[in-house]
Amino acid sequence: MTDIWKNSPRLGKRLDRVEGLLAETLSDPGFPLAEATKRLVFSGGKMLRPAFVIIGSGFGPKGKGPSSEDKIHHIAAAVELIHTASLVHDDIIDDAAIRRGTSTLHTDFGTTNAILAGDWLFSRSFRLVADYADLKSARVLARFVGGICAAEIGQDLGKFGFSTSKRSYLRTIAGKTAALFSLSLHVGASEAKADPLVIQALRRTGYDIGMAFQIIDDILDYESDDKTLRKPVGNDIKEGLCTLPLILALKKDESSLRPLLGKPMDDRKISEILRIVLATGALDEARSIAQRFTARARVEIERLPSCPAKQELMNASEALLQRRY
Ligand code: FPP
Ligand code: MG
Repeated sequence: MTDIWKNSPRLGKRLDRVEGLLAETLSDPGFPLAEATKRLVFSGGKMLRPAFVIIGSGFGPKGKGPSSEDKIHHIAAAVELIHTASLVHDDIIDDAAIRRGTSTLHTDFGTTNAILAGDWLFSRSFRLVADYADLKSARVLARFVGGICAAEIGQDLGKFGFSTSKRSYLRTIAGKTAALFSLSLHVGASEAKADPLVIQALRRTGYDIGMAFQIIDDILDYESDDKTLRKPVGNDIKEGLCTLPLILALKKDESSLRPLLGKPMDDRKISEILRIVLATGALDEARSIAQRFTARARVEIERLPSCPAKQELMNASEALLQRRY
């Protein structure tokens, strides 16, 4: 697991229990790719979304018994399965050969089987939701998953258009990433019967942390290296995606960049684009936009009622801004 939770032993222990449930849920000798799919789930993901479900539940009334903790852990596992399923499908869409340092499912087993393995992960998630979540949470989950699909389609339709609209970029990342962070805190808090105003505030906080998270992700695609990131850098440009660094760089040096933006996108063009984007200072500017989202999240967190989960959320928002992978 990531070291983001190293200062929160309570959370670390609970995430271990979620991992135990994931292992149990994915043990299915009847499903041909169960072991390969399980390896992906246990390939060192950050477990952020399940952690957010648990953190959200920490804002509920005190005195809950182990049975309600168990319910939260199952829902946290369900959210991680939705996330992993979306990554399996995302890697097919992005034609990514490597994820978390290992080859992707479609590289090893072909696109058809990877699509079906992703669907199988969804089906495991639905089962957990049906068995453990309130109807209200199931409804929220269904709505958000629909939104993620819509955002992904919007992103795909814009590929190789290299549009410079910051607003449309922010809308896309809100749908594809921030929504699941927001949902995780919301569902955790709602299942724990937190105050509706607190639930609302957590939803906004999750949104802001998720926005900062995706902006950092998009920056790392320009400035990290394959080994640290455990996936190839420059993949967004290769896929024709115009993320925040490129949007900001285009505003500064469109005449150098524009002629390079088009198909086919070869390695020479990609390294030239990376070089120009870095030279414009667009990465620092993108980072300051991420910082603004984190600062907004911090203001929201400060106003939340005092409890251990509050500090965990504060730590997570800072660690996710500073992360290098
Ligand atoms: C990673 O983003 C991918 C996502 C945040 C969401 C992908 C969603 C889908 C494919 C739609 C189907 C999923 C659901 C939940 C119904 P990225 O490509 O920017 O990051 P990466 O560099 O890690 O691949
Ligand atoms: Mg991707």
